[in-house]
Amino acid sequence: MAPNKFTWKMLFLGCFKTRRSLPAPKIQVSNLTTSQRLSLSDLSNPGSSLSFSDFSSSIFNLHVFTLKELQMVTHQFSKSNYLGEGGFGIVYKGFVTDKLRPGLKAQPVAVKVLDLDGSQGHKEWLAEVIFLGQLKHPHLVNLIGYCCEDEHRLLVYEFMERGNLETQLFKRYSAALPWLTRLKIAAGAAKGIAFLHGEEKPVIYRDLKASNVLLGSDYNAKLSDFGLATDGPQGDDTHITTRVMGTEGYAAPEYIMTGHLTAMSDVFSFGVVLLELLTGKRSVDKNRPSKEQNLVKWARPLLKDPNKLDQIMDPRLEGQYSTEGARKAAALAYQCLSHHCKSRPTMSTVVKTLESLLELNDITIGPFVYVAPTEGKNKEEKETETETENENESHELKDENKCKGSVAEMKDKSRNRQHKGHRHRRRIKSLRSKVVHSDTALYKTLGTGLYSPRD
Ligand SMILES: Nc1ncnc2c1ncn2[C@@H]1O[C@H](COP(=O)(O)OP(=O)(O)OP(=O)(O)O)[C@@H](O)[C@H]1O
Ligand SMILES: [Mg+2]
Repeated sequence: MAPNKFTWKMLFLGCFKTRRSLPAPKIQVSNLTTSQRLSLSDLSNPGSSLSFSDFSSSIFNLHVFTLKELQMVTHQFSKSNYLGEGGFGIVYKGFVTDKLRPGLKAQPVAVKVLDLDGSQGHKEWLAEVIFLGQLKHPHLVNLIGYCCEDEHRLLVYEFMERGNLETQLFKRYSAALPWLTRLKIAAGAAKGIAFLHGEEKPVIYRDLKASNVLLGSDYNAKLSDFGLATDGPQGDDTHITTRVMGTEGYAAPEYIMTGHLTAMSDVFSFGVVLLELLTGKRSVDKNRPSKEQNLVKWARPLLKDPNKLDQIMDPRLEGQYSTEGARKAAALAYQCLSHHCKSRPTMSTVVKTLESLLELNDITIGPFVYVAPTEGKNKEEKETETETENENESHELKDENKCKGSVAEMKDKSRNRQHKGHRHRRRIKSLRSKVVHSDTALYKTLGTGLYSPRD
């Protein structure tokens, strides 16, 4: 029997048809080996025509939802289902039943809705579908499906109970994440990146930052947001040259200055996240004294000196961490943040190092401090209580563990921030590191002084 001809154009033209003419609810393509993973460049070839029989359903297997279904799932995108907002648009919590699609299990989901007036669009949505539709790993968030109807673009993910690392790590009025939980998160994120780099066709993630690390109920870390992901160099190529995209405070210096992107750019960004976990400080914070505003610039010289470790470790840990573990983690962060990309460790080395640190048990546990509740708590303090409960769980876990291009194409989140809804959200957002607006802005921030040759 002649194979069903499936062109990528069909998928994407299908998006612009009416709901009734949408393709079958599930895209399944069969028998594609890892090396045949579809990349974005396959789609940019206008003549590309791919056959269903060429691909494996285990590699590309997503549910296609209608807008109406996702409205229902999220109670009409109700404010009470709001989870967060980034450059792509608002994310809502929802619940899908197993009756919605054959093979779909009943579960909570996160539905990300493209802001039609925003700076991102079909391209980022497509990157997400192409990468997360094919790459499945315990440390990558699972993309369950999508909606592509007229101009609407939505993504449906597994729901991650504890939201993103940025909120968990920097939220005021909540108990600090314990040391072993931080290491577990770092190791999880590192495994996700190591998986991407270890693929037969390596993937560079390009947007590693605390807000893109999502956490499950047991602090299992998963990478989300593949809108900036790209295929890495292949064959004899040492790098790919791309337009500079990323987030201020996380992007690697050589990438900012030359546009040369390698897997080592992700290693640098990982070093920044690791540094944030060690210090409890954001990668960029304009509220700090000028010399400390850029975390890497301030902390890197201190990282290499074990005697200065206590100057950078998060005071909220109250000394409750393995000294040897912290020393080794600091040395690892120092290597990841090396100015010379070839001196950085590979992500598989990073994973091994972090896993060995999880074994260390020379942790001093301080006295238990009970904070009496006060009357007239505001909503935020109440949230804190819930988080403290969560922290207790994470102490249990500890024992267990001992166990974006042209200037115009840069992700622009500050615009989104301007019309944020309620007060609480705005306050958190205003403290967040700014997304880079231009190559020039990034260069100005990081390219001079911080990465001068004498460093
Ligand atoms: N699968 C998910 N489960 C639970 N919460 C999620 C999920 N996906 C996203 N969120 C929440 O929605 C927020 C917004 O996500 P999104 O990735 O769009 O933006 P961001 O990471 O904050 O910013 P950026 O646009 O720079 O990536 C996240 O920070 C997270 O709190
Ligand atoms: Mg994100």
